[in-house]
Amino acid sequence: MREDRNCQWRVAARPVGNVKPSDFEYAETDIPEPGDGEFLLKTLYLGLAPVMRMYMQGTGAAGERPLEIGDVIHGRGVAQVVKSRHPGYRVGDIVQGQCGWQTWKVSRGTPQERFFTCRDYGLPYALAAGVLGMTGLSAWGGFMDCGQPREGDLVVVSGAAGGVGSLVVQMARIRGCRVIGIAGGKEKCRFIQDLGCEAAIDYKGEDVTARIAELCPDGIDIYFDNVGGETLAACLEHLAYEARVVLCGSISEYTRKQPFCLPNYTRLRAVNGTMKGFFVYNYADRFHECTDQMASWINAGQMRPVQDMVDGFDNMPDALARLYDGRNVGVQCCRVRGEPEPLEA
Ligand SMILES: NC(=O)c1ccc[n+]([C@@H]2O[C@H](COP(=O)([O-])OP(=O)(O)OC[C@H]3O[C@@H](n4cnc5c(N)ncnc54)[C@H](OP(=O)(O)O)[C@@H]3O)[C@@H](O)[C@H]2O)c1
Repeated sequence: MREDRNCQWRVAARPVGNVKPSDFEYAETDIPEPGDGEFLLKTLYLGLAPVMRMYMQGTGAAGERPLEIGDVIHGRGVAQVVKSRHPGYRVGDIVQGQCGWQTWKVSRGTPQERFFTCRDYGLPYALAAGVLGMTGLSAWGGFMDCGQPREGDLVVVSGAAGGVGSLVVQMARIRGCRVIGIAGGKEKCRFIQDLGCEAAIDYKGEDVTARIAELCPDGIDIYFDNVGGETLAACLEHLAYEARVVLCGSISEYTRKQPFCLPNYTRLRAVNGTMKGFFVYNYADRFHECTDQMASWINAGQMRPVQDMVDGFDNMPDALARLYDGRNVGVQCCRVRGEPEPLEA
């Protein structure tokens, strides 16, 4: 990566299965100059999310437009304003927003890019790439608003060792709920128990339906779904009266050729339950309410912010692949220049 050039990753091909190196094209351009009403950003950290593969596939999701071959890949990150001809952004500001997979960007601060100025919580600004960014907002909005947790609820979280999941597990504990997590492999199961799960189900090595039946004899009050597919069907079999099923994501379905057909959705009727999907951007106007809350939990030692940092912009394609083969623990992020920024505590 050259510091005197704007380095970019663009879509080279529509991914089939997990992303592979030939799906990405590396390019360099001049560093752009901001015009009137614009500001220049230096990208410090980028957050990775499964949805990026969907953008590459040409699917629009979460309020972003689908990508064409040759487009710079969408990605939100943390950046520093280094030049500004925009009244709302000062040189030195640290912002969180739609940087794209590139090392420099000129922005007009459009509503579509949603650049939020990061607040100083005495925490590393790197957290704004995930835990105090869109991953945190997804977990917070999805769980608190769609899940409507009550003290004593039994919450089941899939993808529990991932970005959103690891935060939902901890928020559920903070709200006085009991939590069971589902993750792939023994190591991740130990990790989610350390985070506060009273039990963990290894979906790669255990029969999820049988384990849910054994662990949830009175049924699940909230199922927070990050994976969809067979795991969603297994949880629907064991819902409590007035259960809430929160559809955050369905990563197990993103790479399938045929869509998964949910065989037992009528279980919702049998328990007077609800199933609700959401877009993270539904909560965009509550961004700072969310980060204030999450930062106060972190500073009080109630929440452990787990970010899985890959070093170097060159490694962005592999960082996205890590989500689909389960190598990440916590929120997958990239430290763009491969070394701690001066602002990183
Ligand atoms: N609704 C929204 O606005 C919104 C916003 C953000 C994220 N999301 C969705 O929320 C979910 C979590 O997102 P995230 O960013 O936190 O990513 P993440 O959970 O960190 O995603 C990667 C994890 O997914 C698991 N995984 C991969 N393939 C799987 C499969 N076939 N079956 C089951 N699990 C699989 C892996 O964990 P294991 O090792 O445990 O398999 C992997 O570590 C995703 O579905 C995402 O699309 C939705």
